[in-house]
Amino acid sequence: MLSEERAALEELKKTVQEETERRGRPLSACVVTFGCQMNERDSEKLKGILLAAGFEESDSEEADFVLYNTCTVRENANTRLYGHLGHVNNMKRQHPDKIIGICGCMMQEKDEVERIRVKYPFVDIVFGTYNIYRLAEILNRRMREGTRVIEVWDKEKEIVEDLPVKREAAWKSGVNIMFGCNNFCSYCIVPYVRGRERSRDPKDILREIETLVRDGVIEVMLLGQNVNSYGKNLPEPVSFAQLLDAVCQIPGLERVRFMTSHPKDLSDELIAVMAKNPKVCRHLHLPVQSGSDGILKAMNRHYTKESYLALVERIRTAMPEISLTTDIIVGFPGETEEDFEETMDVVRRVRFDSAFTFIYSPRTGTPAAKMPDQVPQEVIKERFARLLDLVQSIGSRQSLRDVGRTMPALVESLDEATPGRVTGRLGNNVCVHFEGDESLIGHIVNVHLDEAHGFYYIGTEET
Ligand code: 5AD
Ligand code: SF4
Repeated sequence: MLSEERAALEELKKTVQEETERRGRPLSACVVTFGCQMNERDSEKLKGILLAAGFEESDSEEADFVLYNTCTVRENANTRLYGHLGHVNNMKRQHPDKIIGICGCMMQEKDEVERIRVKYPFVDIVFGTYNIYRLAEILNRRMREGTRVIEVWDKEKEIVEDLPVKREAAWKSGVNIMFGCNNFCSYCIVPYVRGRERSRDPKDILREIETLVRDGVIEVMLLGQNVNSYGKNLPEPVSFAQLLDAVCQIPGLERVRFMTSHPKDLSDELIAVMAKNPKVCRHLHLPVQSGSDGILKAMNRHYTKESYLALVERIRTAMPEISLTTDIIVGFPGETEEDFEETMDVVRRVRFDSAFTFIYSPRTGTPAAKMPDQVPQEVIKERFARLLDLVQSIGSRQSLRDVGRTMPALVESLDEATPGRVTGRLGNNVCVHFEGDESLIGHIVNVHLDEAHGFYYIGTEET
């Protein structure tokens, strides 16, 4: 943490303490997170700062301070935020002391900040993705001076290490290995709102994971927009495969996952490191986006259907048990029925365990938003339904394949639907529900997979 941030945290602490005394009760803070695992990890840092300053965590938007950590990858993420703002404005009318903040990807878009500034005067603080570590300073200024604070940077700066963090789970944690993205897929807004690629020093990453393990963590998820290009721009370049191998050597760490892989950069070196390290979970999320070479070119993805299928083949040869998941966009500009059939063909040939399917959403400032031949909504809807049907029928058959086997599961929670049961996650990311109690949470146990139910199993613990 930078020294000025540490000082800002001390100042905020004083302010929170004074307010707590004035009101005769602790102040509560609620962080609402939209979007991906990157944002979830950012929210853990935001909560870490708030707890260190003396706020009590709340999961209700009735809290004294509500902070929305936004996503803007598709238009519906933006729409959701505005829904919440309407609701929280009503709450603020009843409790004028309430403080409302917005941060994250959507706040890196100038038009959205302008809209908030003009039409949502009840929003007290706004900041972006590059300065989340300044939350203490910004919030303190709002609480001391009573004025609105809008502080959005238009460029990334240094990576700030050692922020306080409030982890959602005791036994697992996300770990950022890099920030930003240099790929500029033509539909995607992320490079504009998260900036250029910056990799953390491998020593800082390993030190963070060692500390997490000492603290009880047994599973980490290495996070980056494109982990396969990790380390290329470091003063002493390191490959993602080398980093992963080093992470696997950390004693006490039992499972390693990572997200997200771009097919164009997934190396044979990485496949070899995964295959030889049993700690690396047998799950790979490998977004294909489309099966049509023409569309892939227009998307600026730098691979073809054939090269994607060949990559899948190499991965499956090295790790036959691996589970593969993907992201697919339907209705990219210019997508014809033949293009769409190529996508369906990839799904049939790869047999993904599951796929996140998205309707193309034009994002202001991206090249695709200006492309001709935007596909009519009714055509997109019809294709989307066909794709979803196929993905689901293949996915549910795929998840039957391990029935009858015994596999290690990391118990994550009590099973909300059935008392007396817990929910565990297999290395391949599929869930299994089985008899057990709270004492199992955070432990890896061997579970016999008795029955497959669509996308999950019912099992029995083997002792
Ligand atoms: N429209 C639809 N889906 C998108 N994604 C990214 N940008 C868009 C967009 N403009 C999807 C991609 C990506 C996932 C995180 O979100 O499939 O892999
Ligand atoms: Fe995550 Fe991208 Fe959404 Fe930002 S815009 S929260 S990086 S999915």
